Amino acid sequence: MDFDIVTFGSAVIDTFVHTDVAERKNFIYYPVGGKILIQDLTFSIGGGGTNTAVAFARLGLKTGCICKVGDDANGKMILSLLKDENVRFIGSIDKEKMSGYSVILDSKGGERTILTYKGANNDIALKELKAGTWKTKWLYYSALLEESFETQKKMATLLHKQGTKLAFNPSSYIINKEDFSGLLKICDVLIVNKEEAAMICKRFKKKTNDPWASIHELGANEILITDKDNPAVCFDGVQRYSIQPHKNLKVVERTGAGDAFASGFVAGRIVGWPLAECLALGLKESESVITSRGAKNKLLRMSLT
Ligand SMILES: Nc1ncnc2c1ncn2[C@@H]1O[C@H](COP(=O)(O)OP(=O)(O)OP(=O)(O)O)[C@@H](O)[C@H]1O
Ligand SMILES: [Mg+2]
Repeated sequence: MDFDIVTFGSAVIDTFVHTDVAERKNFIYYPVGGKILIQDLTFSIGGGGTNTAVAFARLGLKTGCICKVGDDANGKMILSLLKDENVRFIGSIDKEKMSGYSVILDSKGGERTILTYKGANNDIALKELKAGTWKTKWLYYSALLEESFETQKKMATLLHKQGTKLAFNPSSYIINKEDFSGLLKICDVLIVNKEEAAMICKRFKKKTNDPWASIHELGANEILITDKDNPAVCFDGVQRYSIQPHKNLKVVERTGAGDAFASGFVAGRIVGWPLAECLALGLKESESVITSRGAKNKLLRMSLT
């Protein structure tokens, strides 16, 4: 099998619980012993691995997804979605742990708190993956912990030698706790938000005033930093490109915004678009996702090739 891109990340069932509870001082308060009515309840399939795989496949790229699900009804739902979306599942099924599950508590003001159960997601071993039976031009890594992260590192080293390119979207947990310096060195595109960029600079004792330049020195070729409705800026070691998200957009649910921007951007890179056009596609994907609930429903369908 020959893929344009293989994503490697989490697969979870997202349950969106929308209540009328308002935020107060950065907290969503639920009274002890209270019973709170849910105004709106929606389920969707999420997780960085599946979100980005669906985004790439809808853009016409030959896409594989490495993720791990439980041997349960939720796992079956995840696999059937991947199939329906033309994504080839090349991950594994856990006989013991359940599929990942997140509860997204949406407040009245549109903010949210996520409770997440990682389940099968953390246990992906290299030997389960039948590496060698497929090839890919690109790998896209979103954050996974424990054994799965170790496997990501081993696989990146192996495939890098064969010329596979790597896009990487680490989380704050990886940045603060794991050794990912080797991944940075072979990373073609690093995608982080502003806070994560600052954490990387601090972790490697680099200057924080220009995180693009600092992270470039750590080895990443191209660095894209997003910052909510402030400009998303990308640096290729020579030039900077920037795009301004629309202000006052009606944000319905922001889960998946980062995944959507990153996958639009990377898809553009895969087909060789100039950076400015990749930014425009990333922005279009993210704005489409945040103006509806669920991280995938509104991912764009168009062919880049
Ligand atoms: N309030 C907003 N208004 C307009 N666009 C937004 C807003 N929030 C996010 N976006 C869009 O989504 C992109 C990614 O958002 P952000 O910088 O918050 O990423 P993130 O923190 O990685 O998100 P995630 O929590 O999904 O990982 C932004 O660059 C922008 O295009
Ligand atoms: Mg993010």
